Amino acid sequence: MTTKFTLPPLPYAYDALGPYMSAETLEFHHDKHHQAYVTNGEKLLEGSGLEILELEDIVKESFGKNAGLFNNAGQHYNHVHFWNWMKPNGGGKSLPGKLAAKIDEDLGGFDKFRGDFIQAGTTQFGSGWAWLSLNHKTGKLEVTKTANGESPLVHGGKPLLGVDVWEHSYYIDYRNARPKYLEAWFDNLVNWEHVEKLFEEATA
Ligand code: FE2
Repeated sequence: MTTKFTLPPLPYAYDALGPYMSAETLEFHHDKHHQAYVTNGEKLLEGSGLEILELEDIVKESFGKNAGLFNNAGQHYNHVHFWNWMKPNGGGKSLPGKLAAKIDEDLGGFDKFRGDFIQAGTTQFGSGWAWLSLNHKTGKLEVTKTANGESPLVHGGKPLLGVDVWEHSYYIDYRNARPKYLEAWFDNLVNWEHVEKLFEEATA
């Protein structure tokens, strides 16, 4: 009935992000974990009263009211974007101009932002995500962390970049070394063009 809970194909080959994220990790993460959020979310949407909403609004409306649906819808939303927040030969320090200027203005420059983002992911206790988001109230960029399936969407912000720090995202490749995963991810995989696109949409 709905296409809100459809697993999108990865936008690159399973082995395209090596050596920083292996094909085995992507097979499990995309085909098993993300698929489970899609399957469960679709079931839990039925009869929830939120069927007509778009995914973003399902996430916002179920938060704090329908935990089962929220967890799966939130994780579906987060993962749909996560695959696009990465690309082969990503990372690097040369960000698109408008985004770079805003990071300088709000977050003290690229190096400070990089350190704060990695620190947020490292210190998120247990499963969750680290984020770069635009705070709708202040109009400023923020670095935050959230637990489980939460995101800045339910805290008054628009997610621009997020990294999954659930163990399923790094345990095969990095075992327990979450900081090593975060550094490799940030420096080699981030698709800054996609971040810029979301930033332009959020500020249009
Ligand atoms: Fe994940």
